[in-house]
Amino acid sequence: MPLTGPKEMFAKAYAGRYAVGAFNVNNMEIIQGIVWAAQEERAPLILQVSAGARKYASQPYLIKLVEAALVEADLPICLHLDHGQDFDICKACIDGGFTSVMYDGSHLPFEENIAVTKQVVEYAHSKGVWVEAELGRLAGVEDEVSSEKSIYTDPDQAVEFVEKSGCDSLAIAIGTSHGAYKFTGEPKLDFERLEKISNMLPGYPIVLHGSSSVPQEFVEMANAYGGEIPGARGVPEDLLRKAATYGVCKINIDTDIRLAMTATIRKFFKENPSVFDPRGYLKPARQAVKDMVQHKIKHVLGCSDAI
Ligand code: G3H
Ligand code: 13P
Ligand code: ZN
Repeated sequence: MPLTGPKEMFAKAYAGRYAVGAFNVNNMEIIQGIVWAAQEERAPLILQVSAGARKYASQPYLIKLVEAALVEADLPICLHLDHGQDFDICKACIDGGFTSVMYDGSHLPFEENIAVTKQVVEYAHSKGVWVEAELGRLAGVEDEVSSEKSIYTDPDQAVEFVEKSGCDSLAIAIGTSHGAYKFTGEPKLDFERLEKISNMLPGYPIVLHGSSSVPQEFVEMANAYGGEIPGARGVPEDLLRKAATYGVCKINIDTDIRLAMTATIRKFFKENPSVFDPRGYLKPARQAVKDMVQHKIKHVLGCSDAI
């Protein structure tokens, strides 16, 4: 099966009130763990590549690895650029064969964000590629840039933004944030705002970034086997499941995969200090990615057996 765009995935997700998982990929083991989980669950999948991933692994390697996954897996898989920071990176991914790109102009003034998003949309649509944009600002760290304060998405502006830019899906800010430290107090999402945006854009796919739940078992495991990730706290899974029933069709997860791999590798080295064959520790790490993604598909996204 060739790479697919997210159009049909989102239409089905919207109607079925579930979300498709968008998981960040950086190497073969991460791709395999995610794809094997989706294959077992018969779930649609978005594999997303950040600028950092392109820098780490290079675009051709990542594309070929995802294509290799498609040789084995009989699944709809979308290859998406995560947080494209300018027109050029979006164009490079579109030209390289991505089926979806995100242009992230959330740091720009409203009109400028519309203008660049529109430019990306025009190029992407001429090649049949989907465009996600972002309005509002998430707190947290992304591509080594940290933003302290979030700015929640204004519903009226969201409608105007979608109309004027022509973007196909919109990432909004309602309380999620990137990284492992999402909340200091009681974790909550602004469901009133989400419902309003969803009602004002009927049938339109909404995206949530920063949606790792930071499972305490992995934080404790990582801490127990060396290193410290103190005070880490993510978005409770039930809140994400609820968001998926309000028109959120794509939920982004990266931090939880990082945590699962790192905790597993730390544990492995503590228990097997003399092993130096990389397959020794990458195998359980890949299995941890698979287990994590399978859990997300079943209990957070609700997209098992959706294909
Ligand atoms: O939202 C950002 C993603 O977690 C990607 O992170 O830029 O470190 O690859 P990265
Ligand atoms: P997390 O840091 O919560 O995993 O968010 C990932 C993300 O939004 C990627 O774009
Ligand atoms: Zn993000």
